[in-house]
Amino acid sequence: MVSITINGKQYQAAENMTIMEAAKANSIHIPNLCYLEGIHEFGSCRICVVEVEGAKTLQAACITKICDGMRIHTNSERVRKARKVIYELLVSDHAKDCLSCKRNQSCELQALGKALGVEDYRFEGERSVRNDDISVSITRDMTKCILCRRCVTVCNDIQGAGILNAQNRGFDTVIGPAMDLQLGTVNCIFCGQCTVVCPVGALKETDSIQDVWNALNDKSKRVVAQVAPAIRVSIGEEFGYEAGSRVTGKLAAALRRLGFDDVFDTNFTADLTIMEEGTEFLARLKKALLGEGAVLPMITSCSPGWIKFIEHAYPDKLTHLSTCKSPHMMMGALVKSYYAQKINVDPKDIFVVSVMPCTAKKSEISRAEMKNYGLKNVDAVLTTRELAAMIKEAGIDFHALPDEEFDNPLGMSSGAADIFGVTGGVMEAALRTVYEVVTGRQLPFDGLHVAPIVGLESVKVAELTIDNPLDEYKFLDGVTLKVAVTSGVKAANRLVDEISKGKSPYHFIEVMGCPGGCIMGGGQPRSSDPQVKLKRLKGIYTEDEAKVLRKSHENPYVTAIYEEFLGHPNGHLSHELLHTHYVKRGIFNELTSESFVVSKKASAPQASVKQAPKEPMQQHTRDGLASTKIMELETENARLKNELNSALETVELFKKIIVSSSAKNR
Ligand code: SF4
Ligand code: SF4
Ligand code: SF4
Ligand code: FES
Repeated sequence: MVSITINGKQYQAAENMTIMEAAKANSIHIPNLCYLEGIHEFGSCRICVVEVEGAKTLQAACITKICDGMRIHTNSERVRKARKVIYELLVSDHAKDCLSCKRNQSCELQALGKALGVEDYRFEGERSVRNDDISVSITRDMTKCILCRRCVTVCNDIQGAGILNAQNRGFDTVIGPAMDLQLGTVNCIFCGQCTVVCPVGALKETDSIQDVWNALNDKSKRVVAQVAPAIRVSIGEEFGYEAGSRVTGKLAAALRRLGFDDVFDTNFTADLTIMEEGTEFLARLKKALLGEGAVLPMITSCSPGWIKFIEHAYPDKLTHLSTCKSPHMMMGALVKSYYAQKINVDPKDIFVVSVMPCTAKKSEISRAEMKNYGLKNVDAVLTTRELAAMIKEAGIDFHALPDEEFDNPLGMSSGAADIFGVTGGVMEAALRTVYEVVTGRQLPFDGLHVAPIVGLESVKVAELTIDNPLDEYKFLDGVTLKVAVTSGVKAANRLVDEISKGKSPYHFIEVMGCPGGCIMGGGQPRSSDPQVKLKRLKGIYTEDEAKVLRKSHENPYVTAIYEEFLGHPNGHLSHELLHTHYVKRGIFNELTSESFVVSKKASAPQASVKQAPKEPMQQHTRDGLASTKIMELETENARLKNELNSALETVELFKKIIVSSSAKNR
């Protein structure tokens, strides 16, 4: 411990703490902006400056370590003035259109201005030009970027996707993919983790709210909602509930009040996924154990961010993926076939909306293979944040809503389906069913929980020995199943690398694209609560334990849909509706021409374009000024076109090199 003085008062603090940490430990708040505890401690914004006696300049509290005897002032006149100036400089190149900004009232920059007492912007100068990059999942508006680089850290160090980086230098710095390419054309996996940490409106999900309002207003449409498992423990946060609060009943009620004709639960198809995926796993396992050749380990396929990642990074490992569509795609396919038949409605007149914790689901629904009979399985995806925004826009008092049930036949689910929302949940749900199907006995663990794979570690493993199986499964007698669970694609790399080297000891691997699983998906409410992950995880397991049915194969509506419609798991109709295939994309997207761009951005690279500096009017006639401006713009335009052409040529060259080297390696 060392002794420090903050604002004239003495404190003891651990030796390796930063000033920010020591202050926080003693309930002293230091304003900050780029800092994200435990994730991004980079020191780029300087809002957190403090005075340290003896130091020549103000010090950034988030990166300056304390030392014994240090005397710190967090709130002096000098410090407060400096913070205001830094803030004003930051917003001098910022689109201050708060009233129409999606982050209005949830914006850290806005809140900081208020906290610092900023009432005026004294610095106006060159401004970056608006140049949106809109992919089906993520929208980038760099006129609102404050260059904090949180997204860079998350995209590179946590997700390992390596898409976002600082391009160019100085005023030209812009955060985005290399060579000013658009997110929809590169290997962005649309996980949305960057949108969760962005403090402002620079990175956000691509808006689907208006599409959903349009469908709800269209009297010729039957509009069906479905809700992912993780939403029920997170959407409450948008209405002031504690993180992890279970608001399942109010959620169903809110969707009805918004005008949805049917309110189904994606949990139902999570149960169905277990039937399909469990059957697929047992079939592969049997073949492998009987020496008939089968690809193992099998890897789960419900996380579209992860799917896109493996398609880019390991296109030769796609046969390891289960062929099951993700649960909400299965639901969409069933609504437009089984349910449409049942209610005698033309599937063309059905509009399916998935409420998901995930931004990658927005890109998943636009994949060419996610269609049946020429119709998209799912028509729109709302993130948790978007649904909350719609509920607020409709003036629905969420707190006052009664608890209602989901509609049947696609609304009932087991506790196994609930835990799909958290890392380890799909594997546990699968083991609950597979073990019982194979042995006729219940999974022999307390509360049906496979303890080694419960929790938030990035890689978890478990073993389960099968003794005395039923006759049909004698080939499994004495076999120890080895399973692994991982979340966040960076951690998944390790397991796939083992497969590549032929050293994977596992039979079955669960991968979720977001660290912690869907509870921490890129479309979930942003939170400053460091315990949010744990609270949501507890909420999910409580929901599971509160259910009468805890195993997917016990769901009577699942049994009914096989009897009435599908036949049996992995049967012909199941394959047609509930299974899919994958696309080899290549590391730089060079193996496919499929792109996920919504609209083309302006041709000029954004960061290089500036507003021309203001010139003194009195030195020019109006015409003279106009023609000077036109000439300047034409010159700039030509330069930018050249830059862009040469960037595109380089990309093409890279693609050719990669294609020819992959061909050689085959
Ligand atoms: S990002 Fe924040 S400060 Fe900027 S326009 Fe939006 S709400 Fe206003
Ligand atoms: S969506 Fe994910 S992969 Fe894409 S830029 Fe953001 S963090 Fe990176
Ligand atoms: S896009 Fe957002 S998170 Fe990324 S640097 Fe800009 S402001 Fe920060
Ligand atoms: S919060 Fe410390 S430098 Fe940004």
